[in-house]
Amino acid sequence: MSTIVDAPEAYFSRFVRKDDPLLQELEMEAETEHIPIVGPVVGELLYVLSRAIGARSILELGTATGYSAIFLGRACASNAGSLTTLELDPALAARARKNLERAGLENRANVICGDALAHLPRIEGAFDFIFMDIEKAAYLHALPECYRLLRRGGLLVADNVAFPDADRFNQAIFSDSRWRSVPLFAFLPKHSPERDALCLALRC
Ligand SMILES: C[S@@+](CC[C@H](N)C(=O)[O-])C[C@H]1O[C@@H](n2cnc3c(N)ncnc32)[C@H](O)[C@@H]1O
Repeated sequence: MSTIVDAPEAYFSRFVRKDDPLLQELEMEAETEHIPIVGPVVGELLYVLSRAIGARSILELGTATGYSAIFLGRACASNAGSLTTLELDPALAARARKNLERAGLENRANVICGDALAHLPRIEGAFDFIFMDIEKAAYLHALPECYRLLRRGGLLVADNVAFPDADRFNQAIFSDSRWRSVPLFAFLPKHSPERDALCLALRC
């Protein structure tokens, strides 16, 4: 009978990238200040997915210090595209702008300060990729706008869907034939929290 490796968490932690000083600084800062960020595995996943679909236009809901925005901005940059990212907290939005500038992405990323739910109706699509990472109870309310703003065949990734507050979102997207979605429960090193789920959804 085959079985998986012993201590899979320790084993897979060996495959986490640690080669970017700026990202490592932001990871340490997030740990010290208890800022919930996606961490290096989900960051890399966002990069891989957005590059894989050739995303040129990316929207992020929930910037914090710009950690995930750096992965998304870099993916955009390699496709000569751009990132729009929304953050409620003005101090965090200012920090994210600085960090994106340090990453050399100031001409690729636009940080908008405001409530994503209030701002979304004012945005025009079509985006190739949307990453949703705001308070989980808001996911359900943001879903119709994500549908409107994504192009057909575009990808929605929602973080932290293992939280009870995301339950109504999980139920809604799973039962809506306009989306093909898969919730992925996983061990995610340095993600906040490390055992959590992401929803990957294709807009049909
Ligand atoms: C989990 S953190 C985002 C982390 C970031 N995506 C990363 O991984 O680097 C969630 C952020 O969303 C912001 N936020 C919460 N509700 C929001 C809303 N309605 N509109 C915009 N931003 C919101 C919070 O201020 C917080 O900075």
